Amino acid sequence: MTEVFVAKTGEMASGDRRIVSHEGVEVGVFCWEDNYYAYSNICLHQGGPACEGLLMHQVEDVLRPDRSFKQQKFSETEINFVCPWHGYEYDLKTGRVVADPARRLKSFPIIIREGNVHVDIN
Ligand code: FES
Repeated sequence: MTEVFVAKTGEMASGDRRIVSHEGVEVGVFCWEDNYYAYSNICLHQGGPACEGLLMHQVEDVLRPDRSFKQQKFSETEINFVCPWHGYEYDLKTGRVVADPARRLKSFPIIIREGNVHVDIN
């Protein structure tokens, strides 16, 4: 177990992120609605910095009662981060690829202790 300091608790607002590294392993740590999520910063597509792109709400289809397409809207609950190289979207809360949920980024445990946020890069 290798704990790497990320930030003091309360230092990161919802939507903030930090990129930390240890011995060549780079991890993106996100704060979202008082929770923390940590993932490998290597995109599953072509190795881009997956955790360094935009955060954006999931785009959802809105259907009419007959199930035909009406419009799209941004989700109020689902949030994704988007790899800046070619646009792979990852679910912020699971690390799953939105277009292929069977695939996901490696996640890392968050440890909160004595007013500090650490990530366990193992
Ligand atoms: S390397 Fe991330 S989308 Fe291509």
